[in-house]
Amino acid sequence: MRGGLEPIILTRSLERSFQSNGLETQVLKGVDCAIYENEIVSIMGASGVGKTTLIHLLSTLDTPTGGEVWLFGRDVTKLSSNELASLRNRRLGFVFQMHHLLPEFSALENVCMPFLIRGTPMKEAEKYAKRLFDLLGMSDRMSTPVKRLSGGEQQRVAIARAMVTRPNILFADEPTGNLDESATDSIGELFRLLNRELGTTIVFVTHNPRLAKIATRRFVLSKGVLEEIPND
Ligand SMILES: Nc1ncnc2c1ncn2[C@@H]1O[C@H](COP(=O)(O)OP(=O)(O)OP(=O)(O)O)[C@@H](O)[C@H]1O
Ligand SMILES: [Mg+2]
Repeated sequence: MRGGLEPIILTRSLERSFQSNGLETQVLKGVDCAIYENEIVSIMGASGVGKTTLIHLLSTLDTPTGGEVWLFGRDVTKLSSNELASLRNRRLGFVFQMHHLLPEFSALENVCMPFLIRGTPMKEAEKYAKRLFDLLGMSDRMSTPVKRLSGGEQQRVAIARAMVTRPNILFADEPTGNLDESATDSIGELFRLLNRELGTTIVFVTHNPRLAKIATRRFVLSKGVLEEIPND
């Protein structure tokens, strides 16, 4: 608890191990963390340490082998598959290491895709998506096919697509993977803007200390546990 607030994300002794060739590898060995509404949280750590594994568990895309994940005050392992689907659809947004955009479709069509899946009329979807492009500073690139956009622009489109349904929490796994410093800075600015303007809680994994600096709280995953780095 912090100032009487419930955490929006809470883990208790979270564990994840994988079996391969009869061998069990314990990747997460008891992760405890509490993340609150409106925070921007960064997770760093060496390659292979389990950051993607952790963010998949926090975002309900994977199931723990031990411990608990609570989102919005509910134990997600106790939700039915319908409740889980609705939670993911309405309250969570995802940006993956590989962004999975559809290259032949325009930036606008890509961003509208989650609305179309929900059955929202195209006109309404476009109206909100256009506002998001304004916010991203990419209004002039909306009708360009994604394959003709730069890496940084594609990454912004992926973030817009994750944000278009106005999720409470945005999860991003290495959102600036192959980007240069200036494109990285603009993703950082974008996170801050979305957090400030829309109140979105943001949890992201990164190898980039520059990007980690924009977080209001920073964590490092090491030897299967998560440690908070004090703010300097
Ligand atoms: N589905 C799986 N089956 C078996 N092992 C897995 C699986 N997913 C992840 N692992 C193992 O778990 C460990 C952590 O992987 P993970 O992808 O979470 O690391 P990471 O910290 O995200 O690394 P990177 O910084 O390189 O993206 C690795 O040793 C990986 O091989
Ligand atoms: Mg990873």
